[in-house]
Amino acid sequence: MNLIKSPLHGNLPAKISLSLLLCASMTTPLLRADTTSPIPTLQIQADKITAQMPPTFYGLMTEEINYSYEGGLYGELIRNRTFKADAIQQPIKPENYDPAKYYPVQIAVTNPPKFWSAVGNAKISLDTNVVLNAALNVSLKLDVSGARKDSPAGIANGGYWGIALQPNTTYHASFYAKAKDFNGELTVSLETADGKTVVAQAEITGIGSDWKKYETTLTTGNIAPSKENRLVISATKSGTFFNHHGTIWFQEVSLFPPTYKNRPNGDRVDLSQILAAAHPKFLRFPGGNFVEGDFFNERFNWKETIGPVEQRPGHRSCWGYWATDGFGLPEFLGWCEDLKMEPVLAVFAGYTLRHDYIPAGPKLEPYVQEALEEIEYVTGDTNTTWGAQRAKDGHPAPFKLRYVEIGNEDWFDHSGSYDGRFTQFHDAIKAKYPQLQLISTAPVKSRVADLNDEHYYKSEEEMESQSFMYDKRNRDNPTKIFVGEWATRVGSPTPNMAGALGDAAWMCNLERNADIVMMHCYAPLFVNVSDLKRGGSMQWPSDLIGYDALNSYGSPSYYAQQIFGTHTGDEVLATTAQNLPSYDWIQKNRTRNGQLQPARTNEVKSIFYSATRATASGKIIVKIVNRADAPQDLAIEIAGVSSIADEGTATVLKADNRNETNSLAEPKHVVPATEKVTGLGTSFTRTYPPCSITILELSAK
Ligand code: AHR
Repeated sequence: MNLIKSPLHGNLPAKISLSLLLCASMTTPLLRADTTSPIPTLQIQADKITAQMPPTFYGLMTEEINYSYEGGLYGELIRNRTFKADAIQQPIKPENYDPAKYYPVQIAVTNPPKFWSAVGNAKISLDTNVVLNAALNVSLKLDVSGARKDSPAGIANGGYWGIALQPNTTYHASFYAKAKDFNGELTVSLETADGKTVVAQAEITGIGSDWKKYETTLTTGNIAPSKENRLVISATKSGTFFNHHGTIWFQEVSLFPPTYKNRPNGDRVDLSQILAAAHPKFLRFPGGNFVEGDFFNERFNWKETIGPVEQRPGHRSCWGYWATDGFGLPEFLGWCEDLKMEPVLAVFAGYTLRHDYIPAGPKLEPYVQEALEEIEYVTGDTNTTWGAQRAKDGHPAPFKLRYVEIGNEDWFDHSGSYDGRFTQFHDAIKAKYPQLQLISTAPVKSRVADLNDEHYYKSEEEMESQSFMYDKRNRDNPTKIFVGEWATRVGSPTPNMAGALGDAAWMCNLERNADIVMMHCYAPLFVNVSDLKRGGSMQWPSDLIGYDALNSYGSPSYYAQQIFGTHTGDEVLATTAQNLPSYDWIQKNRTRNGQLQPARTNEVKSIFYSATRATASGKIIVKIVNRADAPQDLAIEIAGVSSIADEGTATVLKADNRNETNSLAEPKHVVPATEKVTGLGTSFTRTYPPCSITILELSAK
């Protein structure tokens, strides 16, 4: 329960007072309005710059979680295109593991091919005897002996909870196949999920006895957009003239829609557009937990995620499903290029989620070399080994790279090995790439990390209670801060307005302290909301952007990010505040470090702020968050400027109450609006709506 302790402005109009009481009474049984308290005031010293806002302050964090790429950003529409969804990757302990070796997965051939179904009189099964290559050591075997002219036999795939089809759009289908005792045509079709209506189809001829890639395009007509569709590949002939027991084997069955910026093997357009609208400046990848994996042979092994997709073995994601790694290192980099983001590359640092690790020393060296090679893949000239490989993979130009993160959340490593592991990576990387900034993921003593990655996942109240935290941080530490994962976790699958309020309070904290906080990113970024049951499409509730196969939306938290990230300014201005209202947050008893902490009451501010200047336009940007369920007056006094124009703009994200949210059904329920406002000056008072985030742009002279 939150009690508003509000030093409210004494002269609130009756309308506001009434709405305040009504609104507050819905969620706050006790309202203490102290009409005699002085008005809350924010002072901005426009001539006192406390930090240059780092140009890469707002970014994205991403990993394969919640079907982020598979069934998410990655354009691929076919689920389980390599038939490994059920593959068994036996855990390997570090002492038995050779990082240079590929350990093939085991396939339970008695299992039916997951996410595939037989069409007509077809028989389908997994086959490990006839395989495309060592990386993809299983194929889908189709027995077409039951095929008839009027009753085709084939395989069907319904995608990731559907296949989205748009009108008048061309899809690119491809597959590897080989045949025995079969010389007929294959029909590739897009059809409704019930198989009753064919939306587009094409014929493939000449399936031979050797593996070969077959490709075709399928163009839809004037259909309504839908996701209840499937891809079918079928035959009407049962075999050859002499043998009616034809068999066809498939691998890497793929269907792509048009992708963002037409990138081959590229990204889903609507999700890319949502991201692009937030203008993120960097991308932290490939995790998160995904960089570590549960076991050594389940880490993000970047060398197995490059090159032609049919050579990539894929691996089990630590989030419980198969990653084809079609979205691999080149695709992360392509994504950076498309959205003009700087890569923040996390390298595997010899420690996994199940606490297996390799201590510093000779056995860690191959992993250090791997990291150096990975950096070369990203940044090297084409006359380097890995730069040449990148060129072969379609990108001759090196990527700009300034930040490399050593591991992920190594504070979980209670063995104490991180200090030594970090040192070994640090020394090798700095020796070869002295210009790189290295990020530690736990405090280290033996070396000075350029940045340390801190993670915060909190309730709204916790987030707000910590939203003045960095103001109190020691400024003497040479290691700067990267808040590489944070989120106010309220609302599922995506955060609601309460989440956005906690986030905005937190981002004010980050902005005010941009002298020590260099960059930050929300996590997780994506969630496929198609199947929210356990074992379904979501592994982690409260994610920034939600989608199914057809549609997508940004949460209120996304819009908070978007308006903050597109109104950064480049100079942080000194601010002080007085008489800010607060509320009581009763923190329940909890266990911390094995000790029971009794319940306690915390007084938490309910107004948050930051002020910056955009030097090019001269505008002063003031962010005000009113997390209360009541309107709140705030006086703003600006010193160090000659004048502030009477007119400016206000961009406001607000909701009638903190539980309001966006969803597939109502994607734009809570969105920001920008309007002209007047009554501004070097000293002015405005009333901020309940549950609101306001960005004022003031024209200063
Ligand atoms: O963002 C979800 C997970 O939270 C990340 O993978 C991990 O780094 C953190 O614990």
